[in-house]
Amino acid sequence: MTWVVTGGAGYIGSHVVAAFAAEGIPSIVLDDLNSGRTAFVPDGVELHHGSITDAPAVAEVLRRPGVEGVVHVAALKYAGVSVREPLDSYRVNVEGTRILLDECLKADVRNVVFSSSAAVFGTPDTDLVTEDTPKNPESPYGESKLIGEWLLRDVARAAELNGDRPFRHTSLRYFNVVGSGIPTVYDVSPHNLFPILLAAVTEGRTPTVFGDDYATPDGSCVRDYIHVADVASAHVAAARALAAGRDIAPAYNLGRGEGVSVKEIIAAVADVIGRPVSYDVGPRRPGDPARIVTSSERAQADLGWTAQYDLHEMVQSAWDAWNVAAAEGTARLG
Ligand code: UFG
Repeated sequence: MTWVVTGGAGYIGSHVVAAFAAEGIPSIVLDDLNSGRTAFVPDGVELHHGSITDAPAVAEVLRRPGVEGVVHVAALKYAGVSVREPLDSYRVNVEGTRILLDECLKADVRNVVFSSSAAVFGTPDTDLVTEDTPKNPESPYGESKLIGEWLLRDVARAAELNGDRPFRHTSLRYFNVVGSGIPTVYDVSPHNLFPILLAAVTEGRTPTVFGDDYATPDGSCVRDYIHVADVASAHVAAARALAAGRDIAPAYNLGRGEGVSVKEIIAAVADVIGRPVSYDVGPRRPGDPARIVTSSERAQADLGWTAQYDLHEMVQSAWDAWNVAAAEGTARLG
């Protein structure tokens, strides 16, 4: 009962691999190391260096004996970058997913957990998003994730119509994934708030809050931050449900249902590092919704999953992992 984890050398994917290992479920990583790092792959787990856009490489891992399913994390994930380089997002996130699904069918691997994103919602017109909230992605990244969800749906529908063995799938829509569940793995993103803040306070630079004139309690944007180890454990629950043939919804939103502002995150960082963090206020970042927070009731009901970690634990673990890397001289973003 091995699972292939695409993007398993990345920040989120390596946590998924570790969560599988902790449950005694073997996995194989397929990663092109574009943003992933060899050192993030847990000991004892095979890293197959290859891209999801390379059909023979995908076929090779899927045809290993005992492969039961795929957790498909590999993607280009920077929404802002995707606006300037849309075709890259479509090539990797859409064409890569199409190739992966094609090879899954050829190898008769029929369980897929897909990494989707809050970005499929764009700017919601509700305080608490649910799975059924209208999808209005505002970037090629968000669009590519929504198309990924549609590809899974269409492949499953075709299997049913064609009388094939059922193709089983779910999409996990991550909200703002932060923290660290593995002491040596940290978020390497040069575009996201947590790594930017931690790098800034380490290097003595002043971070910038992107806009504080939003219609939110303190004027800065509100997000639903969730610990990466909680996100990882949802994949285990989803994979188990798929493999057991249990009813499973096409998509689950993963968050904590608690809105936290950028200024509150900065205060939480100051609390963890034990000194004040000053910041500048800059202009709004294009495409940022004022607030996006989700209910995860469906994941709780169907998968028995709830987030375990609070904000302090998210910031503390992110800070600790960043410092382990800094001490080793490997702390860098990008
Ligand atoms: N922010 C700052 N200063 C910074 C960096 C970020 O104020 O230097 C703010 C942003 O404006 C935003 C909040 O911090 O209000 C969080 O920003 P992130 O970039 O960390 O995360 P996003 O909410 O923009 O993005 C996340 C995921 C994306 C996904 C998106 C969908 O990281 O992959 O949610 O809503 F597309």
